[in-house]
Amino acid sequence: MTDDTLRPPESPAPVTSEPRAADFALSFDAVAAQYAMARPSYPPELFDAVEELAGTPLRGKKVVDVGAGTGIATALLRERGADVIAVEPGPGMGAQLRTTLPGVPLVRAYGDALPFADATADLVTYAQSWHWTDPARSVPEALRVLRPGGALALWWNVPDPDVAWTAAQERRLQDRLPGYHRHGVSSDAAGIITSLDLEPGLEPAAAPVFRRLHWTRRIPVDLHLAHLASRSYFVVMGEERAKPVLDDERAHLLRLFPDGTIEDAYALDLTVLRRR
Ligand SMILES: C[S@@+](CC[C@H](N)C(=O)[O-])C[C@H]1O[C@@H](n2cnc3c(N)ncnc32)[C@H](O)[C@@H]1O
Repeated sequence: MTDDTLRPPESPAPVTSEPRAADFALSFDAVAAQYAMARPSYPPELFDAVEELAGTPLRGKKVVDVGAGTGIATALLRERGADVIAVEPGPGMGAQLRTTLPGVPLVRAYGDALPFADATADLVTYAQSWHWTDPARSVPEALRVLRPGGALALWWNVPDPDVAWTAAQERRLQDRLPGYHRHGVSSDAAGIITSLDLEPGLEPAAAPVFRRLHWTRRIPVDLHLAHLASRSYFVVMGEERAKPVLDDERAHLLRLFPDGTIEDAYALDLTVLRRR
């Protein structure tokens, strides 16, 4: 594979006051260890829903996990018995994955140009990573790589908008930080896919299906803040500018949760598209 194949869809910009999408997309490399430590996992109900909507158990299936990062979803897919290949463009995230999952095949590539033959995978997954691709390229690529009857599954853990303190925190951050949610597409993925003009032969079997699950984890306030700090917005912002925002959030949360433990609440947005 040449360096050209690894050029991001939008090449990194020179440092300006307004970072571009590519700066955010590969920002995680700088915080890979923190990402692995602070990011939430995914509950078993997610994989039950993937199996139900994809119409097949994961055991024994060939899965291509794109934007695999440090391997959080990759590991869980393997625990369900899937045979997983991880795809990750970022060298820092990939190095972390190699440390955690040394036996897993890892390919350095982008979702917009998957280095796999046609009709070779049962499932293509994107765990919190599809929004970094160009859907007009990554969806046809996934459909090309999928066997007939295979499925593309996209999911995101997002702060649960139905939980008052979580929703309030997101509103606070949005008011304070311009463009805070600009890369969020978790509940729009089905609409984005439906609007694509897909070539004959790559038509899906049916319209994409969306499902929202809810789950929680009890964690120290500082782990919640480390998770926030691992979001691309904060990473690109830099530690110096992020610190006062995170300090204010700590003070806010400790007023709400004086014992320092919070029930972090997530909505898990899943979209599944089946290939004909
Ligand atoms: C938020 S992380 C998700 C990591 C992992 N899947 C998880 O569930 O924790 C997003 C990942 O997408 C990767 N990424 C960025 N641009 C991408 C692209 N165009 N195609 C595939 N992955 C991309 C980043 O390097 C990063 O590792």
